Parts: sequence; structure tokens; C-alpha cells
Amino acid sequence: MSQKGFTLWFTGLSGAGKTTLAHIVEAEMRKHNLRVEILDGDVVRTNLSKGLGFSKEDRDTNIRRIGFVCHLLSRNGVAAISAAISPYREIRDEVRKTIGDFVEVYVHCPLEVCAQRDVKGLYAKAMAGEIPSFTGVSDPYEEPLNPEVVVDSSKETPEVSAKKILKKLEELGYLPKTEEVYSEEEEEEVKRRLEELGYF
Ligand code: ADX
Repeated sequence: MSQKGFTLWFTGLSGAGKTTLAHIVEAEMRKHNLRVEILDGDVVRTNLSKGLGFSKEDRDTNIRRIGFVCHLLSRNGVAAISAAISPYREIRDEVRKTIGDFVEVYVHCPLEVCAQRDVKGLYAKAMAGEIPSFTGVSDPYEEPLNPEVVVDSSKETPEVSAKKILKKLEELGYLPKTEEVYSEEEEEEVKRRLEELGYF
């Protein structure tokens, strides 16, 4: 089966688990010998989006750049994975429209849980007023209205969430099915052959 390119777009608060999930899904895709590339917000901001801050304008620029690269990759048969907060619905939908083959995953996690995890120590600072315009604390996060997949990292393990995503990608035809499902006719044919062999 030749690989059909697409973009897997994660969105959610900082610390919700986007990067973790992106890497698990990437590893699974590589098992199928697919070409995959991750564009992670934290990484992109050290090169492609270096110098951009967190105003709405800068975030929109960041997301449009990530979307642009995802589009180039997708149309060349690569599975592009974006893992950035991407807090604004309008820009996500704009990117969706441009790319077409776009699968949005909302990594849901209550703010309190993200703040409790505080992997990078940024929530404590943001809540102390030391980081202005911090997503979820002092800056908006707009949930997707119709994402293809919703996972809840406060209630399920990363492996369970990753399975949900992979299952959806199979359903949409972007990944080969893991288990062979026979159609009724095929099942009849299998039964007929087994009968011929004297199994029934
Ligand atoms: S986005 O809004 O433009 O999509 P992006 O995912 O690239 O954001 O970067 C978010 C990361 O930048 C966070 O995970 C966090 O590590 C860091 N960060 C620094 N300042 C902020 C801020 N004000 N709001 C959100 N994240 C911030």
C-alpha cells in the first residue's frame, strides 16, 4: 500500500501531553514503515519560529508556519505531526482547510491537572503573574468543536490515548488495518474452503 500523506494535528494546553502522544504515535507509524515528521511547538520555536513570542499575532504566525510545513510534507506522502498548543480555533481551521487531509486530536486535560504536573515549572510562574499571557491562565484556549479524536490525559494512559488515535487513522484509511476483518462474502468463502477440507 502506498503511503497517503496527511497531517495529524494535536491541540491542547501546555503540559496536556501532546509531545508524549506525538512520539508514541510516531513510533507506531514507523513500525508500518511510514515516513513521519514531528513539528513540535517547543522545537519549532528554537528555529523556524525563533524570535516569536506569545501574542495572538505571534502565535498565529507560528501556527501558520507549522501548517505550511505540514502541508508540504503531507502532499509529498509524509505523515506530518504537529504538536503545538495552537489555541485559536480560526487558525486551526484555516490550516485544516489548506491541508485537506487533516486529523485533529484534542488532548484534553483540566487546567488544574496541567498546573499540578507543571513539568516545566511554567504554571507556577504564570500563576504568580511572572509570565504574562500564559495559555489557560491569562490567555485564551479555544477547544476544538469537531475534532476527529478527543483524548483525556487526566483519565487515560498515553498508550490508551495513542491506541484511540491509531484506530481513527486506520478508520480514515491513513494507516493499514492492524487486524484483518473479513467481509461476509470472504467469510463464506473461507467457510466453504474449510468445508472442502473436511473441517465441518
Ligand atoms: S502556540 O500557542 O504558538 O501554539 P507553542 O506550542 O508553540 O504555542 O509553544 C508553547 C510552549 O511554549 C509551552 O509548552 C511552554 O513551554 C512555552 N511557553 C512559554 N511562554 C508561554 C505562554 N505565555 N503561553 C503558553 N506557552 C508558553
